[in-house]
Amino acid sequence: MSDTMKAIVLRAPGSADNFAAADLPLPPLRPGDVRIRLRAASFNPVDYQIRKGGPEGRLVSSNILGRDLSGTVDSVHADLRDFRAGDEVFSYVCHLASSGTYAQYVSVPAELVAKKPACLSHEQAASVPVAGITATMALAKVGAERTSSLFIAGGAGGVGTFAIMLARQLGIANLVTPAGNPRSRAYLMERCGLGNGQIIDYKASDFVAQAMKRNGGPFSAVVDLVGGRMLGACTQLVAIDGNLASITEAPNQDDFETLFQRNASFHPIGANAYSLSGDRGVWRRYRAMLDHLSGLFDSGAIRPPPIAVLGPLSVEVVKKAHALLEMSAVQGKLVMTC
Ligand SMILES: NC(=O)c1ccc[n+]([C@@H]2O[C@H](COP(=O)([O-])OP(=O)(O)OC[C@H]3O[C@@H](n4cnc5c(N)ncnc54)[C@H](OP(=O)(O)O)[C@@H]3O)[C@@H](O)[C@H]2O)c1
Repeated sequence: MSDTMKAIVLRAPGSADNFAAADLPLPPLRPGDVRIRLRAASFNPVDYQIRKGGPEGRLVSSNILGRDLSGTVDSVHADLRDFRAGDEVFSYVCHLASSGTYAQYVSVPAELVAKKPACLSHEQAASVPVAGITATMALAKVGAERTSSLFIAGGAGGVGTFAIMLARQLGIANLVTPAGNPRSRAYLMERCGLGNGQIIDYKASDFVAQAMKRNGGPFSAVVDLVGGRMLGACTQLVAIDGNLASITEAPNQDDFETLFQRNASFHPIGANAYSLSGDRGVWRRYRAMLDHLSGLFDSGAIRPPPIAVLGPLSVEVVKKAHALLEMSAVQGKLVMTC
């Protein structure tokens, strides 16, 4: 095994032209770490937000971006019993890891690592952690297990794809999501199993009324994955005593007033929240969620996630993924082989 690895580094915040290929030393194994030889990584909007110098990057010290991986354990720290070299794993990689995932190797605290679902390829498994964990947390907050109606704003995106898969698995009777173009509508029907009647054109001026009509009234659970005006629409769609979760931003004053008028609860979702704890026991919640998702895939309760594999670890692939995500023009998840 070589003692260097290939990685894509960000030489300075700003343009995607600042990405460059580099040969770097393998990351060291810290106490509690698992070192993973990546087979695939996936992309998330937070990647370009950090690249541009946004506040999401304030905890990140590495110039290698990327938060999702699937791969093979290369070595484990002597104090660990949970994993062995050769195990196939996937992981939610945040600022606690040696670097991001645009690389061939990364060392990750074991609490953030789980055994890869056996039925998924590395490319499919790499698409799961950020989007699957975020969707899991959002659905838990809106009480998806007990609701009969759920509106998911942004259903065709990465997080939305997982939210829809999990909501369908729960058997929620009335599930509605908007789409802004024929490509997203086709994706939701062909890849996510929704019927035409479950999809609203969010560019229609009366789209809130249309959504209400599809449901026969407001929704007891609403998940916002878009923000801005769509979050405002979500506050209008939530029922009296209902629950609204957003993964994007806080409601403005007018939207908050709408929530007051419904006695509705607002839940901000931060997928990285557990990583901010100093207690490694709290970090373990990531593995618990990944294990749960694994079980759903391997039991056949949910189908393999739809993905688009853009190509191998390279500046070109990273730049292409960032360009597509910045246009908000992605259905499902974009993946890179490593
Ligand atoms: N809080 C957290 O922990 C957390 C975690 C993950 C992600 N996020 C954030 O959540 C957002 C979504 O993440 P993602 O990975 O799902 O992004 P994504 O995959 O880039 O989402 C793309 C989707 O957004 C939809 N969309 C864009 N504008 C829309 C609008 N005005 N109304 C309705 N849908 C619209 C698009 O559908 P159409 O093609 O139909 O327009 C597209 O399919 C991002 O801002 C991301 O930074 C937060």
